[in-house]
Amino acid sequence: AGSGKFFVGGNWKCNGTKDSIAKLVSDLNSASLEADVDVVVSPPFVYIDQVKSSLTDRIEISGQNSWVGKGGAFTGEISVEQLKDIGCKWVILGHSERRHVIGEKDEFIGKKAAYALSEGLGVIACIGEKLEEREAGKTFDVCFDQLKAFADAVPSWEKVVVAYEPVWAIGTGKVASPQQAQEVHVAVRDWLKKNVSEEVASKTRIIYGGSVNGGNCAELAKEEDIDGFLVGGASLKGPEFATIVNSVT
Ligand code: G3P
Repeated sequence: AGSGKFFVGGNWKCNGTKDSIAKLVSDLNSASLEADVDVVVSPPFVYIDQVKSSLTDRIEISGQNSWVGKGGAFTGEISVEQLKDIGCKWVILGHSERRHVIGEKDEFIGKKAAYALSEGLGVIACIGEKLEEREAGKTFDVCFDQLKAFADAVPSWEKVVVAYEPVWAIGTGKVASPQQAQEVHVAVRDWLKKNVSEEVASKTRIIYGGSVNGGNCAELAKEEDIDGFLVGGASLKGPEFATIVNSVT
């Protein structure tokens, strides 16, 4: 960890029921969390209200996606205004599941980020290569293209956290090694320095996601350029998520 306050997000994805979420919230409420860490959870939309009304204010809430502009006649979508209305401070954009399962493209994701920021939400901007791209030596190219789409669209980086999530590590149990993650994080920071500014490069938090758990978080957190985590599966277990939050070094 190096730049700014350590940031740990729990992306609950499309998981949970009223009952399982009540249990998770209660576990999080009773967990002891390091003070110097930003902690955010991202429940499925339909449970955000339940979480907001029962979860400690110590933990902020994020949407898992948002519409690209002002709400209206967009069946099935959730607007930035609605996320704010219900108490969200953040939104996750460009997650690999939205890129590769739903088919969202770079430019569209960039526009979403710009709109969310213009309305005052923080953005967790996800990037990351697929296995075949890594094997073809294209990891940096893919990450930089995705980063550029964000950079071209956003007016300011103050409320942006970059999440590097290699697709091959997501939900697979195959975590990137600390060296693999650190190598990409340094490259991302260097890209920001050359293409945005030195200040943005040094201040922007770059967090890692992909099979982070209670057992591997401490080693990853030691790396200079890993400024936190975006956690999927392990964020559904309160005590394990707390361990990850507390791995800050
Ligand atoms: O956004 C977090 C995520 O994609 C990582 O998921 O289950 O591999 O921790 P998981």
